[in-house]
Amino acid sequence: MKKIMVKLGVAGLTGCLFSLLAVTVMAAEAPSGDAASKASTVTPQFHKALVVQRGMTPEAAKCIECHAKKTPGIVESWKLGKMAHASVGCYDCHVVQKSSPMASQCSGIKGSDIYISPMVSSKTCSRCHPTEVEQFLKSGHAMLSSKPVVDPSKLNGKLIKLMYHLEGAQFIGNNDPGSVSASRAAGCQMCHGGEVELGPDNKPIKNTWPGGVGQRYPDGSVGNCTVCHTRHKFSVAEARKPEACASCHLGPDHPDIEIYIESKHGQVFLTHGEDWEWDSAPDAWQPGDYTAPTCATCHMSGIGELSTTHNINERLKWDLMHKKSVIRSGERGDGEKGAKLMRQVCANCHGSTHIEKERQNLDDAVALYNFYWDGAVKMKKDLAAKGLLGKDAWSDGFQELMYYLWHHTGRRARQGVAMNGPDYAHWHGFFQIFQVYKDMQAIYDWRIKNNKIEPLSTVMSTGPL
Ligand code: HEC
Ligand code: HEC
Ligand code: HEC
Ligand code: HEC
Ligand code: HEC
Ligand code: HEC
Ligand code: HEC
Ligand code: HEC
Repeated sequence: MKKIMVKLGVAGLTGCLFSLLAVTVMAAEAPSGDAASKASTVTPQFHKALVVQRGMTPEAAKCIECHAKKTPGIVESWKLGKMAHASVGCYDCHVVQKSSPMASQCSGIKGSDIYISPMVSSKTCSRCHPTEVEQFLKSGHAMLSSKPVVDPSKLNGKLIKLMYHLEGAQFIGNNDPGSVSASRAAGCQMCHGGEVELGPDNKPIKNTWPGGVGQRYPDGSVGNCTVCHTRHKFSVAEARKPEACASCHLGPDHPDIEIYIESKHGQVFLTHGEDWEWDSAPDAWQPGDYTAPTCATCHMSGIGELSTTHNINERLKWDLMHKKSVIRSGERGDGEKGAKLMRQVCANCHGSTHIEKERQNLDDAVALYNFYWDGAVKMKKDLAAKGLLGKDAWSDGFQELMYYLWHHTGRRARQGVAMNGPDYAHWHGFFQIFQVYKDMQAIYDWRIKNNKIEPLSTVMSTGPL
């Protein structure tokens, strides 16, 4: 059974060549511009450059034939994807020039003049998907994402200290180079991405590969597209589902999937999602295919007048992740424009009164959170001026609480309001903000009154924060 399937997979490629040629002809005839791209929800959109116009060479077919036996899991999922049907194979994505810093040879091609790499960055995809990659590279998912992990000097070495000294147990004498970075390699790096370091055989060392969305590669390229389109199917339908974001956007410090699930949108998705049409052509996934938005609908997909974007910063007004929320500018996007675009998303399904209320709620919540934050900053400055701030922030009750204020409960409140999760806006959010703030106030008052720092941290770091 399996063998027959494999044969079909490869033989079927000749047939695919025809369908591709058909696509090329239609693309040439399709009118260009926005109107055309919205003209139909049935025909695929053609302002994208999809330029494979050939079948498969014998060398390219060999990779598949052998890997069907050696790594059947990979070939089976590849066969399910649209790219397999367009004869984009292992060869197209994994073969590199001999001169590439990542060039190596697997056992099947040893001694030949073909070189491959297990590492595949967005640069490879950009050969055929230049628009998506260009948008992606401008987003927070690219350079900005791996920055805290690979370039922490900008953050005064605080994150280096967190990753190795504290989490890696250097502070209690751990000097083992492997285990010191275990937390970073399996944690931060798998969401944010890190930087690949190569050994003499051009293969990654020190657990620096694979990595998350902003992974940096030895040829200078950035970005791992598989975080939303998992390999080797690379499915658009998958990326449209909230699960595609949930592997990273969860937990106490950015519970976006939890917020979504408790929102009305999540309720509709959970109850009706299995009847939705997930596989519409790229950029042509519209209300009707679904009845409530997913993460992708609001942040990425084409909807109504808006085209699909791989720049997730484009539709955002506020920065809801850092200590103080400000309107986005510079490398974080254009907040004023972002607010307009997000309203356009809502307007496909809600009236202006509803949308106005929601946007006003968000602005008010940001102002409320910032008010607390400013108060905390003022207390901290006072304590610092009087020498009443502990040197080690992680065992100083006031500073520990201040971290939870913005990084945990403060983000939950802001993001809970932004994405309509009342439990996160309130119980995990503003309710805990005022509690944390009052505890900070109590420590502040005590220190000012006694002119010293309390001997033990009063904060249970593993508490419900
Ligand atoms: C559309 C491009 C594309 C195609 C086609 C493709 N791959 Fe990959 N492959 C990737 C990407 C992207 C990764 C993840 C690389 C990274 O994280 O740097 C990957 C990772 C891998 C890995 C290493 C990860 C692991 O699980 O060990 C292997 C092995 C691999 N692919 C084999 C294959 C084989 C065999 C084929 C053909 C059946 C194939 N690939 C087809 C893009 C592709
Ligand atoms: C005759 C069998 C055979 C052929 C042909 C073959 N491979 Fe492999 N390949 C293997 C085996 C076995 C492995 C696992 C052991 C290894 O890494 O050498 C492997 C591993 C790989 C890996 C992962 C390497 C790593 O470092 O983890 C990639 C990527 C890969 N092959 C891609 C290709 C591509 C692309 C082609 C075609 C140009 C190809 N292979 C042709 C048998 C083959
Ligand atoms: C050699 C050209 C080529 C390369 C390289 C390539 N692609 Fe594709 N890709 C295509 C073509 C052609 C299609 C359209 C297939 C179809 O719809 O029939 C496609 C479609 C897709 C789709 C849409 C699938 C769907 O379910 O509709 C995704 C997602 C995708 N590619 C991601 C990637 C990623 C990620 C990479 C890099 C790891 C990559 N591609 C590399 C040619 C390529
Ligand atoms: C489960 C995935 C995950 C892990 C593990 C993780 N992060 Fe994050 N991180 C995120 C997400 C998602 C955001 C965006 C948060 C938001 O929008 O509120 C983020 C935001 C950040 C930010 C703020 C954005 C910026 O660029 O300034 C920093 C800094 C950061 N993380 C550092 C780290 C470090 C260092 C580690 C490990 C010690 C780590 N993260 C572990 C997912 C993760
Ligand atoms: C944050 C998640 C995410 C990441 C990362 C991501 N994609 Fe996508 N991608 C999506 C979603 C969602 C869609 C579907 C948009 C829609 O509804 O039409 C999509 C659609 C596509 C399509 C179909 C054409 C289109 O533009 O709609 C291609 C091709 C594609 N992605 C390639 C890539 C490449 C190449 C990368 C790496 C640079 C990448 N994607 C990274 C989520 C992602
Ligand atoms: C592999 C992990 C990962 C996945 C999967 C992922 N993200 Fe992210 N996302 C991050 C990290 C890390 C950041 C923080 C980037 C930074 O440092 O600025 C982030 C940031 C963001 C931001 C804020 C932009 C900014 O300023 O950085 C948005 C919005 C976002 N992601 C939406 C999505 C959506 C929607 C999806 C799914 C379609 C998704 N993400 C999938 C890791 C991920
Ligand atoms: C109904 C539309 C909608 C849905 C669905 C949605 N979001 Fe959001 N998201 C928003 C809005 C609105 C904001 C705040 C934008 C602003 O600042 O104007 C936001 C903010 C964010 C941020 C915060 C960026 C920052 O500044 O830190 C992240 C991360 C994010 N969303 C990820 C996700 C993920 C992951 C999902 C799915 C689990 C999701 N969103 C579902 C509308 C949505
Ligand atoms: C694809 C359609 C769609 C889009 C786009 C959409 N929503 Fe919704 N929304 C719904 C549906 C359906 C409900 C459930 C209505 C109900 O409870 O009967 C809903 C409910 C809500 C609710 C709960 C309150 C209520 O009316 O029941 C809020 C708040 C909300 N949406 C805000 C937004 C915001 C803000 C945006 C844009 C960022 C947005 N929605 C985008 C379809 C959508």
